[in-house]
Amino acid sequence: MPLTRLPCACGFVWLLAVVAVAWLSELKENETISDVKLCSIKQISTGKMYRTEAEEMGDELFYAYSKPQILKHPCKSNMALYMGKALLLTKDNFRSSIIPLNIPKMFQVQTAKVSGAIYSSSCILLIINGNIYAYDYEDGSWSILLITEVFITNIYAEYCCYSSDYSCSSISNLILVYAIGGPVSDAVIYISNSLGFDFEELSLPQLKLLDGTFEGIFFFHSMSKFGVLLKNGDTARFAYIEPAKNETWGLPFHMSRRLHMLNLPGLKGFLIFWHEHRLLFSHNSGQLVEDIPIKEKKAVTHESFGLSGKSIYAIAGYENELAVLTTDFHFYYGTLGLLSTSLIKITEETPVTNGSAIMFESIGNVVIVTAVKDEDDPAYNFVVCCVNMQYVLMELEIGLKSCKAEVLRGDFDKKMHILDMGETLELSAKLVPQPSQLPIPIVTVSNPHSLGFQVKMYEDGYTFDGNTKFTINITLMQQHTSGRAHESFISDIKIPSLSTITLDLIERGMSCIDLQPPSGLISIGCNWKKKIIVRRDLTACMKKFLEPIELENNYTYIIEKGSYDPNYHSRPQENNVDLTIMYDYEELGCPGLVYYNSPWKPVIELWEETRRVEVVKAEFVLIEIHGLYTYNYSMTVGEASCVSQAQNWSSVIDASTIKGVHAWDRQNYLSCHENHESAPLLWPNVEYQVLGGSTKNSIIFDERNGIYVFLVRVVDPFYSYCDLTTTFSIYVYGAFPKQTLPDRLVFMSMLGLMLILLWLGYVIPKLSKSERGKK
Ligand SMILES: *[C@@H]1O[C@H](CO)[C@@H](O)[C@H](O)[C@H]1NC(C)=O
Ligand SMILES: *[C@@H]1O[C@H](CO)[C@@H](O)[C@H](O)[C@H]1NC(C)=O
Ligand SMILES: *[C@@H]1O[C@H](CO)[C@@H](O)[C@H](O)[C@H]1NC(C)=O
Ligand SMILES: *[C@@H]1O[C@H](CO)[C@@H](O)[C@H](O)[C@H]1NC(C)=O
Ligand SMILES: *[C@@H]1O[C@H](CO)[C@@H](O)[C@H](O)[C@H]1NC(C)=O
Ligand SMILES: *[C@@H]1O[C@H](CO)[C@@H](O)[C@H](O)[C@H]1NC(C)=O
Ligand SMILES: *[C@@H]1O[C@H](CO)[C@@H](O)[C@H](O)[C@H]1NC(C)=O
Repeated sequence: MPLTRLPCACGFVWLLAVVAVAWLSELKENETISDVKLCSIKQISTGKMYRTEAEEMGDELFYAYSKPQILKHPCKSNMALYMGKALLLTKDNFRSSIIPLNIPKMFQVQTAKVSGAIYSSSCILLIINGNIYAYDYEDGSWSILLITEVFITNIYAEYCCYSSDYSCSSISNLILVYAIGGPVSDAVIYISNSLGFDFEELSLPQLKLLDGTFEGIFFFHSMSKFGVLLKNGDTARFAYIEPAKNETWGLPFHMSRRLHMLNLPGLKGFLIFWHEHRLLFSHNSGQLVEDIPIKEKKAVTHESFGLSGKSIYAIAGYENELAVLTTDFHFYYGTLGLLSTSLIKITEETPVTNGSAIMFESIGNVVIVTAVKDEDDPAYNFVVCCVNMQYVLMELEIGLKSCKAEVLRGDFDKKMHILDMGETLELSAKLVPQPSQLPIPIVTVSNPHSLGFQVKMYEDGYTFDGNTKFTINITLMQQHTSGRAHESFISDIKIPSLSTITLDLIERGMSCIDLQPPSGLISIGCNWKKKIIVRRDLTACMKKFLEPIELENNYTYIIEKGSYDPNYHSRPQENNVDLTIMYDYEELGCPGLVYYNSPWKPVIELWEETRRVEVVKAEFVLIEIHGLYTYNYSMTVGEASCVSQAQNWSSVIDASTIKGVHAWDRQNYLSCHENHESAPLLWPNVEYQVLGGSTKNSIIFDERNGIYVFLVRVVDPFYSYCDLTTTFSIYVYGAFPKQTLPDRLVFMSMLGLMLILLWLGYVIPKLSKSERGKK
């Protein structure tokens, strides 16, 4: 096999002291190039770089399994954890010596056997002797996260590295830990939604009804479902569970022994399953799991790894790639994708020993890492073998077809887009085939229950060397609004979900390393840049009812007893006292001005960052945050044409665990214009307390001048996935000031005044007459 001496793909080595290893010098000078190994070999020995640091003595950690494994950080490209006779955490892809990780003696773990690990924020979470510990690699601290009765065997998380948006960054908050092997109905599973800081037992009632052996549980964000791997006899299959729904099933596959699972980063639902003699792949989160065919030589192809008679020593996966080392240290490389998955033998001579492990450094760049213990130093050194697959494949003579396309690019690659309720998204991609080739593009989404799409492909001119260019336009919409899927197939539109979208070529082939299928993440959910603002054309300050200077200076006002209810039930309260309220000018600004005697409803605008999008026409509710109830609604439930009993603040607060102004939101809102069996229309004459939407409902104020601070919240669940809410203030004016004297007193004094006037009217003319008479 004509393999060239390849330059290491990664240009770093000059920085470090590079010393040739003893066994490297065994290579004879006169060997032909084709005999030379897959890679250039360097041993990196940085000597005593750690000697100045005070080393804390602790219990040395080691991997529970016999074959070393590397856990690469899903987002930080230079960070990886080697797990073998020692645990070695690198921040430069093993280009310098490393002191093994120790767990401080105070944790009393003694033989610190590590059976699993994940990254979480700035920590590595490790299963040590069946319990969960965290090592913070930024400050070097250790902590205990979970100690349980059961012996935890597995830990699981997914990652999103595309964006700092909450929909993406929050994915790794969810962590599952559990013990496999027992009946699924007894499975003990712990879940954390806080990066591992808190764990609680996960209760999925559906699990109790399943049978089989529990082989693992995963949350597949790209499907927005739990996947449970169950084994019955020699077959296994996935059950997919979402709360309050019946489970759905993946297709069964043969599984006689326990399989390791590798969930490839990118959230596409690419899974690799393996044990020594088996190698399987799923491109859709386990719904279809198939053997990976393996090509040995020109004409020899096996349908599965088992048939090749080899056994696996180590595997590594990347976005669409796979690398395998066998126990006889043969090296295989493969590509992953819909209709393009296969594995091919590259070489029989790899420079590895029992301490070697394998990982991808980047697309098309595999490194084989061998950890070597330095006898007189606590640090480990590394032999790093870099394999550039592009070069290697070009040299191979196994008749690899050249890639069918020259360009395959999507503007959505490695990005996250947000699709809020009812919106559509336009994505675009470019395809340039090789001359006289006809590659067939294929668009897939990982969550077709929520994400629908339409594709348009058209010729779009020529490249400068005469190849046809194609533009592919992809329109994304919610499956719910696509009108193209059966209702039973569509997931609940009210619940946010995620999906990836990938543009690939059918039978892409192994040589398309430079042409990786573009893939992006679509968050069907809230666009966190959205907010609502209440329009305020006229303020109380413009009309001089209030002065800004006054409001700024800790302005207070009084809410009279009898006009507010601290429990928000709009009921007069006994023992009520006048409330003194401090006005929050910084948050509320100057109150809007509202005349008491005309029906009123706030005008709510939707904004996206600094852009005004539209006036919100959807249903919303509002409530005075201090409990003032000196207003009511212009419509009754009957007048609003409700067909079921409408909710109101009292009924919602009674039913909710949140006893306050935040009790009513889009999650618990039920439109009264739909039939709800649980709420027949019994009292059509009560107030209808929902504004906006199809009704002309509005607020009518009592005769009371003063400030009202309202919380407003859009409750229509089909308007946006966001919880759109804000507080604002108004000043109601124009009502006659309340009389300060009791009515009877006023009446009496009026009567008195009139009598006096009457008497004067009688007396004065009399007096003037007698005056004149005197004259
Ligand atoms: C390499 O060359 C030396 C002499 O130059 C020869 O003795 C030796 O056999 C050669 N080795 C191989 C593997 O060809
Ligand atoms: C679940 O399945 C049962 C019986 O197969 C059916 O009666 C029930 O309606 C289903 N529930 C849901 C939420 O689909
Ligand atoms: C690797 O380990 C196996 C079994 O543990 C042993 O038989 C073999 O000799 C070892 N090979 C090397 C090169 O150390
Ligand atoms: C494809 O998308 C681009 C950019 O969004 C647009 O300019 C073009 O008109 C679209 N073409 C078709 C045929 O829809
Ligand atoms: C307003 O109140 C805060 C605390 O109650 C006080 O620190 C501040 O000095 C006050 N400001 C004015 C202008 O009185
Ligand atoms: C609002 O209150 C006024 C005065 O208390 C009352 O006359 C009116 O019927 C109420 N409106 C509704 C819809 O309850
Ligand atoms: C709220 O609705 C319930 C029925 O759901 C009704 O009995 C009650 O009178 C309503 N309260 C008000 C203040 O309208």
